[in-house]
Formats: sequence, structure tokens, C-alpha cells
Amino acid sequence: MRDKWSSKVGFILAAAGSAVGLGNIWKFPYSVGTNGGGVFVALYILFLITIGCPLMLAAITLGRKTQKSVFGAYKSIDHRWSFVGALGVVCGFFILAFYSTVGGWVLYYFKSAITGKLNTTDPNILGDIFAQLMNSPKELIFYQCIFLIVTIVIVLKGISNGIEKASKIMMPALFVMLIIIAIRSITLKGSLEGIRFLFTPDFSKLNMDVAMNALGQMFFSLSIGMGVMVTYGSYLDKKVNILDTALMIPVIDTAVALIAGLATIPAVFALGFEVGEGPKLMFVTLPAVFASMPMGTLFCIVFFLLVIFAALTSSISMLEVAISYFVDEKKKDRVKSTLLIGLVIFLLGIPASLSMGPWENVSFIGKLNFFDLYDKLTSNILLTTGAFFLCVFVGWVLKTEEAIKEIESSNVTFTLAPVWSFLIKYIVPIAIFIILISAYKDFILSLLL
Ligand code: PFF
Repeated sequence: MRDKWSSKVGFILAAAGSAVGLGNIWKFPYSVGTNGGGVFVALYILFLITIGCPLMLAAITLGRKTQKSVFGAYKSIDHRWSFVGALGVVCGFFILAFYSTVGGWVLYYFKSAITGKLNTTDPNILGDIFAQLMNSPKELIFYQCIFLIVTIVIVLKGISNGIEKASKIMMPALFVMLIIIAIRSITLKGSLEGIRFLFTPDFSKLNMDVAMNALGQMFFSLSIGMGVMVTYGSYLDKKVNILDTALMIPVIDTAVALIAGLATIPAVFALGFEVGEGPKLMFVTLPAVFASMPMGTLFCIVFFLLVIFAALTSSISMLEVAISYFVDEKKKDRVKSTLLIGLVIFLLGIPASLSMGPWENVSFIGKLNFFDLYDKLTSNILLTTGAFFLCVFVGWVLKTEEAIKEIESSNVTFTLAPVWSFLIKYIVPIAIFIILISAYKDFILSLLL
């Protein structure tokens, strides 16, 4: 018999654990900063309601119906579609390659918080600390490696269960912590401009690039498009109401992202940082916020510890997708495949780790350095493509009527079924398709030029 979640709470914790991670705390705030502020947030929320929530339900339903992890799920309904599962594995490799890079940065910052190195509000000093790390390949690779090893050990020992139990405490703790930081951030003198930047959309900044990045960020943040939610859904008992569960995850995920935005952006304006700083934004801004509050060092240490935890519950979900492919589909040994996958990801991650320092201008092809290449390739291309196929599959191959039957099998009435069905069949695939064309064009051009 297959394992089942012991309770609905177990599923929600694991799924929310996968969704809430560096994507919310690190990537969302800096993407807001580099994509025009409020207009990005407004678009993100629009996409979340019209595309993200319907797809979350589609993914969980597909998993629960087939009771199989992502490859098996597609294959059991129509074997020609199993390539979508393979696409997810490739995507997982690349995400984890740069995710472990950033996970490594968080580990380094955790250590630096303990030694008191981060206790300053001076943007120059904090900028230097980040630059120093980016220019010390040994440290970068060392911390990236540690992050990956911890991920691998958790997955290998099959203790993700324990991790999920621990997240019952860690996740709410992170949430409370972010709220405290947000309160500090918005009460800093000069923060109003940041709040305005975050929540007042300037539609003159709206363009295809912003739309593409908002959509990609949403898929990344919700862990949709590479099979995690299908796989997690497959462990759900038929009695569980998947309707409210599917809604709860995006709500939690978005709440965390918005609060992380409030913790970061107002402080950026108040303390004199640069909002368009990119990936280093959280690492330079938040230590300054901590330094400006009582017991700041303690908050700083606990914060980075909780972020490590949130990042790990996401990274294990990515690794599980790759491993389940090799173990379930290719009948490979679990330990050997995990170690081998880990090694490949580690090697793939090294160029990403060096990309903000010595390899800043080194590219594989075209003008993107490795970090940007992995980021764009995964969020804007692979996850978005995976989400497109998921949608077409549930809408037209499995068929929404079947999916609705599955959703209603736990004795719930899905009042919005016709709306959901219409979205999944027509609106969502068309909207994703339009943005995808532009994403492919952009991506190919950035490789060629
Ligand atoms: N959702 C995770 C985050 O926001 O950090 C990242 C992620 C996990 C993306 C799992 C994709 C995935 F399949």
C-alpha cells in the first residue's frame, strides 16, 4: 500500500513547506524591486487568482485521482504525456542548482549573524560583506555544498516526515518573525515611500517583461509546473476535501510573500538602499533592519535559521521529484540515484555560485551568466511550460468533468465548477501561451545576442 498523509494537516504542511521558501522571502521582494513595484504586485495577484489557484486545484486533483507521482500520473492517463514528468525533472535539477547557491548564502549569513558581523545599518558595510562572499569561491562552494548535503541527508534518511512535523513550529515561527520585521520596517522613518512603491501600481511600467516575470515568479513560488503538487496530492486520502486545501496553499504562500515584501521594501527606502539591487536585496537590507531594533542580533540569528528551514522544506520537495523519477520509473537504486543526482546538481550549481563574483560575465551561450540563465530558464520557460501542459492535460485529456467528479467525490459541492472548468480549458492555457511566446522569444534572443 502507498503511504498516505496521516492527516490533512500533514499534507498542508508539506505542500505549504514546498511553496514557502526562498521564493517568497528572497526572490519576491527583489523581483518587486526590479519589475516596477506595485504593478508587479498587482499583476502577481491577478495571475494568482485567475491562473495560480485554478492550476493548484488541477495539480492536486490529478495527483489524488491517479494516486501516482507526477510521471505515473500523466502516463496512467495517456502515456504520450509522460514527457511532462521528464520536463519537471530537468527543471528540478536547474532550480536546485541555483536554489542551493542561495541556500548557501543563507547559511553563511546565519554564521555571520552568530559572530555579530552583520550588526550595522550602514549600506556600504553590508554591501561589502555581500561582495566579499561573492568573491570568495571557496566559501560559496562550501556553503552551497553543505546546503545540498543537508537536503540529501533528509531525503535519504526518509526523515522528511520529521521535517514536516518540525515545520508545525518553524513555519508559524517564521510567519510571526516576518510580521515583527515588517512592523519594524514600516515604522522606520521614510518608509512610506516604500509602502507606496509596493502597493501603488504605476501602469506605465507595465510591459510583457513584467508580465512574464510575475507569472514565472508565481509558478516558482507556488511550486507549480514541475510536479511537486501532483506528487504530494497523490498521497491524499479520497475522503479529504481538496477544494479548500488547494485554496489554502496559495493564500498562505502569498501572505508570506507580501509580508516579506513589507519587511524588505519599506526598509530599503528608509535606510538608503537601492530597490533595484536584484538578488542581494534581502541580504543587505534585512541585517540593517535587525540592527535597528532591540535584541537585533538575536532576531537576525533566529531569522536566518528559520529561512534555512523554509528553504530546506522546498529543496527536499524538488529533490524528491527527481528521485521518484529514477526510482519509480527507471527502477534505479534509491541511495545511488540520490547521491548521483546530488553530485550532478552540485556541479551544475558551481557556475551559478560564482556568477555574482568572478564569473559575473561568464556565460555558456549568449549574454546571461549562469545564475541568470538558470533562473530565467526555470521560472520563465520550464515551469511556465510545465504549467501550460498541466492545464491542457487536465482540461482536454483528463477532462474537467472527470476532475470535477474527483473533487466532488469527498462529498463537497464545487459551486464554482463551471467557472473553474472554463478557466482551465480556455482562459488559463491561452493566457499562459501568449506569455510563453514572448518568454521563448526573449530567452532565445538573450542566448543569441
Ligand atoms: N516554491 C519554492 C519557493 O518559493 O522557494 C521553490 C520551489 C520549490 C519551486 C519546489 C519549484 C518547486 F517545484
